[in-house]
Amino acid sequence: MKPVKVGLLGLGTVGGGTATVLSRNAEEIARRAGRGIVIDFAAALDTSHAAQLGLSGVRLSNNAMDVVEDPDIEIVVELIGGYNLAKDLVLQAINNGKHVVTANKALIALHGNEIFAAAQKQGVIVAFEAAVAGGIPVIKAVREGLAANRIEWLAGIINGTSNFILTEMRDKGRSFADVLAEAQVLGYAEANPTFDVEGIDAAHKLTILSSIAFGVPLQFNETYVEGISKITPEDVSYAADLGYRIKLLGIARRTEQGIEQRVHPTLIPRKQLIASVDGVMNCVMVQGDAVGSTLYYGRGAGAEPTGSAVVADIIDVVRAMTSDPNNRVPHLAFQASTLADTPI
Ligand code: HSE
Repeated sequence: MKPVKVGLLGLGTVGGGTATVLSRNAEEIARRAGRGIVIDFAAALDTSHAAQLGLSGVRLSNNAMDVVEDPDIEIVVELIGGYNLAKDLVLQAINNGKHVVTANKALIALHGNEIFAAAQKQGVIVAFEAAVAGGIPVIKAVREGLAANRIEWLAGIINGTSNFILTEMRDKGRSFADVLAEAQVLGYAEANPTFDVEGIDAAHKLTILSSIAFGVPLQFNETYVEGISKITPEDVSYAADLGYRIKLLGIARRTEQGIEQRVHPTLIPRKQLIASVDGVMNCVMVQGDAVGSTLYYGRGAGAEPTGSAVVADIIDVVRAMTSDPNNRVPHLAFQASTLADTPI
């Protein structure tokens, strides 16, 4: 069978990590997917480093729409980020009958309801594991592994940049600005790092997790959002002296009034497991009625950890492409129409 042709939009940190993982582990990936997977066409504003990413011989364009309109491309992988252009590209890819894999949490949190409805109509898949908690397969864990449970609450450290900043301030007494600059160099931070330090990125991710855990539509605008930009080195050090860690948490839980979603700095007793999640690591706790407490831990940002989640989604899509189309959409995305009818 011929390899599946993937179109890659974006050759930044995550695009690079995705290309690297796909080519380094090509044999295992093909075995697991049941077919080879190749990047056939890639688009970015700057493609001069494509060969360095192992993409020599791959068709290149500076216009992402060229990839979306290409008839040979079966899966479009959107890694350019942002809301507007990404939304147009994803909706056009869906309209063209292509499956979509994205790491774009802002896009899914704000426009996911519309995107999933379009995908459902076209019978294509939109997969977005990499949008939450980088390399940790937490979406799959909640959607599939805990599918038997009534989820009671979830809470976690879901922004690696903020956690890295808080950790370095505490352990090394470094300044906020200095650590943020390093997070940008390491490829952890968003293009607009305000999203990281003001809690917006965590709120995007919490919105997605909450929707999956509680079976409600995506409701980003209902989220309380407070970041870490007002936390001083003194706050971090006083908290440590008192036996606490300051962590930026995203929390979603059922209340009598509906699903509560909030992101804010939180004092956590040092002995709690989550208090020792440091640096760029993320951690999500999920409480289900049948399973009890569960915990998911791993790298929340960076090229290859996020690429790991993107490629896992591509493999899932390729597997699903050979399965019954009537059964595949609920498995990988979720059905917006069903969710809209679900009482909170
Ligand atoms: N800026 C994000 C973070 C990247 O620091 O967690 C991964 O989503």
